[in-house]
Amino acid sequence: MSDPTRILFVCLGNICRSPTAEGVFRALAERREMAAGLVIDSAGTGGWHVGEPADRRMQAACRQRGYTLTSRARQVADADFERFDLIFAMDRDNERDLLARCPDAHRAKIRLFRELDPEPGSPDLPDPYYGGPEGFEEVVNIVERCSKRLLDELASHR
Ligand code: 4NP
Repeated sequence: MSDPTRILFVCLGNICRSPTAEGVFRALAERREMAAGLVIDSAGTGGWHVGEPADRRMQAACRQRGYTLTSRARQVADADFERFDLIFAMDRDNERDLLARCPDAHRAKIRLFRELDPEPGSPDLPDPYYGGPEGFEEVVNIVERCSKRLLDELASHR
């Protein structure tokens, strides 16, 4: 067996967007029987919520669509830049914060998640934390679209 592809999703708090990307992408990878070849994780650029499960509103929006979020928040560590092959920033602030601390040798691993979005729109996955329930639903919609594209991309490179 070849080495797994290691994928890290990164947002600010690691309690809304990146845990959703981790959970939805893993579920869709399992459906396509691609999960065995992947290591999937998420982290936050900030440390305020370390150790917490995903936000209850985010968990509820995911549960409604058949996805269960099981991750606990952690902060991005220096070792992540070495360990992961692909690092997806949920918005441009996250991308900037990652690039600011990423060693030169690993900078090409960092990408904006919404570059994968087949629908035109903002380059950022909007932060739902301070808004209403529709914001959490929108996160699930966008994450599903981008995750499917990422799986297509990975399948075509095997
Ligand atoms: P996330 O959302 O980055 O998608 O996990 C946020 C969660 C918490 C905070 C900001 C964004 N916060 O400021 O506590």
